[in-house]
Amino acid sequence: MLVLGIESSCDETGMALYSTSAGGALLAHALHSQVRMHQDYGGVVPELASRDHIRRVVPLLRKVLADSGCPLAAIDAVAYTQGPGLAGALLVGAAFAEALAMALDVPSVPIHHLEGHLLSPLLSRSPPRFPFVALLVSGGHSQLMRVSAVGHYELIGETLDDAAGEAFDKTAKLLGLGYPGGPALAALADHGRPGQVRLPRPMLKSADLNFSFSGLKTAVLTRVRELAPISEQQRADIARAFQEAIVEVLVSKALRAVASSGLKQLVVAGGVGANRELRRQLDAHAGRARIAVYYPELEFCTDNGAMIALAGALRLQAGTQAGKQAGAFAVRPRWPLSCC
Ligand code: KG4
Ligand code: ZN
Repeated sequence: MLVLGIESSCDETGMALYSTSAGGALLAHALHSQVRMHQDYGGVVPELASRDHIRRVVPLLRKVLADSGCPLAAIDAVAYTQGPGLAGALLVGAAFAEALAMALDVPSVPIHHLEGHLLSPLLSRSPPRFPFVALLVSGGHSQLMRVSAVGHYELIGETLDDAAGEAFDKTAKLLGLGYPGGPALAALADHGRPGQVRLPRPMLKSADLNFSFSGLKTAVLTRVRELAPISEQQRADIARAFQEAIVEVLVSKALRAVASSGLKQLVVAGGVGANRELRRQLDAHAGRARIAVYYPELEFCTDNGAMIALAGALRLQAGTQAGKQAGAFAVRPRWPLSCC
């Protein structure tokens, strides 16, 4: 079975072809990032995002067909991100996918964006096996989930305010860094000196598995104001302290979640999963606790079509796809994963 996957929930248009033959293989994937277009505005402009997705879908489809050598008629199903995300951006991918599925007379498979993220480590050469605990850390979400099988996701912890990626982005803005803030802040943190700035570790000691990151951002704001005018070195020191604080909380809660679940595998997914310091600390601490940690390939940490194609293929194989009227579709800009 050949599944086309389409991602258009935010500022990346992703397209991929996944084949379930011979144990499953990603045949081709292509991505267009809108980062440069939104940079002038300091963040994603939803209307510009939608219009750009419209421009990209057909050329990206042509590219994955050419790269894989598969004809259009070989596609057996079309999976697409139904939500959560920007309504207009989602509508572009959904309308394109549904129209294509109807024209080819194949099933369409609406996918939850976070399901795509949390299944993305299954694309790697040594994938985890169900069940596992997933730490989902993206621009819009920070959650801990117990994943028993495809479609069986139990929320065991989440942020009470900002998502981890959002905290990176907002703090980067406070430090005068561009959009997207996460990678820029991480790069600046490399030049920070250890022990120069002390920031809080919100909810580190709370008995639950929840997070809170908005206080950390406020602590950075206070520090920046105290130090004004801030030097380049001081900005780097703050970036380092911020990254250390957020990583310590994520590592501690994620490992506690694995321990309390009685499982031995942790999957890390979402854009913040690309953070090198998070990976370093998780590997070090998990190794001591004999927990295996799985990450998607770096290119599949942030938004992409491959994870949507994979999630669609797994849903079809598992037979957990809800039946729906041909041609009828809706996007779900707000959509809790535990409801899918
Ligand atoms: O998963 P993703 O591409 O989009 C959402 O579904 O939200 O995640 C994007 C988020 C942004 O907040 C971005 O700043 C953050 O992931 N991010 C990072 C890094 N790379 C991306 N945060 C910290 N360190 C990174 N290296
Ligand atoms: Zn995402």
